Amino acid sequence: MATPQSSTPSPRQAAARKAAETRAKDAIALLKADHRKVEGLFAKYEEAKANDARKQQIFQQIAMELRIHMQLEEEIFYPQSREFVEEEDTVNEAEVEHAAAKDLMAQLEGMSPSDEMYDAKVTVLQEQIEHHVEEEEEEYFPEVKKNGMDTRAVGEEIMARKQELVGRMDGAGRRLQ
Ligand SMILES: [Fe+2]
Ligand SMILES: [Fe+2]
Repeated sequence: MATPQSSTPSPRQAAARKAAETRAKDAIALLKADHRKVEGLFAKYEEAKANDARKQQIFQQIAMELRIHMQLEEEIFYPQSREFVEEEDTVNEAEVEHAAAKDLMAQLEGMSPSDEMYDAKVTVLQEQIEHHVEEEEEEYFPEVKKNGMDTRAVGEEIMARKQELVGRMDGAGRRLQ
């Protein structure tokens, strides 16, 4: 007689599957996936420009994704990558670029989407992020990989921290008390 099959995995199966997924993640692949997600959101923003409520909602999603991503890089990837970069400026400049993006996002959060400067600020944020992402993907990430950074181990840390952060943030990616 066949054993009855449950459609939901047992807690042990679920934990094993989750562990396998976590093991499979490489830090650079994880960070690049975040980059693609944010690019997709900026494209959505472009299509929603005529609708103030919609574009504000999309901007809030962009801000949430970027804040989590930047925090993961600043807490985990950037510090651990320092010994694998040829020049410390690679990391320092990336941190300055994050600060500039956070400043623009804070300005946007204090504005109405009907403000005539709103779209301009989102466009500049997008351009800055595109430049930053290009430097990470074309120079920074390949360099640390080439110099022996254990991107699998760092990827596991990033995954675990991301799960923690997502549970602790509000809709705009701000830390909840
Ligand atoms: Fe990044
Ligand atoms: Fe970054």
